[in-house]
Amino acid sequence: MRYRATREYRAGQPIKVSFDLQVNSMRNPFHHWIRIAIFALALVGAFSAEARHLAAQNSATTDPISPPGRRTYMGRTIAPTMGAAGAGWLIRETREEEERPSEVIRQLNLKPGMVVCDLGCGNGFYTLKMAELVAPGGKVLAVDIQPEMLHLLQLRCQEAGIDNVEPIQSTVTDPKLPPNSVDLVLLVDVYHEFSHPVQMLRGIRESLRPDGVVALLEYRAEDPTVPIRPLHKMSKRQILKEYHANGFRLVRQYDGLPWQHLMFFARDPDWHPPQFSSGDDE
Ligand SMILES: C[S@@+](CC[C@H](N)C(=O)[O-])C[C@H]1O[C@@H](n2cnc3c(N)ncnc32)[C@H](O)[C@@H]1O
Repeated sequence: MRYRATREYRAGQPIKVSFDLQVNSMRNPFHHWIRIAIFALALVGAFSAEARHLAAQNSATTDPISPPGRRTYMGRTIAPTMGAAGAGWLIRETREEEERPSEVIRQLNLKPGMVVCDLGCGNGFYTLKMAELVAPGGKVLAVDIQPEMLHLLQLRCQEAGIDNVEPIQSTVTDPKLPPNSVDLVLLVDVYHEFSHPVQMLRGIRESLRPDGVVALLEYRAEDPTVPIRPLHKMSKRQILKEYHANGFRLVRQYDGLPWQHLMFFARDPDWHPPQFSSGDDE
């Protein structure tokens, strides 16, 4: 007899826990009842362990007074957060061939001494590559809402002997970055998952040094041959709409990647936050 627990996430929050029971041979009725009793005890234990885990994760990923997450933003449906169970996919061998991350890294123009941020770092596919290029003297602030992802990242850094990565456990409304201190914030396949894009973009804006930039990578919604579900893609038009509305201006773009847009944004000095908000989709 075995049981399996699975969790589903929305906007970084665990929303559903399912338990599957698999019962094998039960020929002896006495053994049958003993097994049922053992299973009941295990289930109670598992539920309380799971409840403790979810409570810990909720308090870690939300602010005490955070507004509810959006389902849509400026006409776009927000995607659910990718859970840590999918971390293996992020470091798959075929990623270089499919997405050409080595070209992305070249386009970032990283230099020793820079302070950079990998926001929504997952298990650190990009973090580790960036860490080597900003050494000596520089560091990577590796930010994620999921403690499991940060744990996997730390294991990978230890294995690679990398010591200039600072893991930061953030929340869905606050990247927890120090103000006015980051040269480049990299966002790879994460912006479309932000349940609170306005608050996150505000935190990112405030973290940038005056000449700091955001490097945004999103799968191209305009291209039906990119083999990613539409919910996890964005068009340039939509990206520009959302970034302009939140105080960023496009400073550069690179169109040579196989699947993704790569767009660079800087703070727009002429922008002022809107005084009034008239609804959820504003
Ligand atoms: C699809 S994965 C991409 C990971 C990594 N950027 C990469 O390309 O390998 C998205 C990651 O962003 C994280 N994430 C989602 N919303 C976030 C938020 N508001 N702040 C920080 N991390 C977030 C998720 O926990 C997940 O680890």
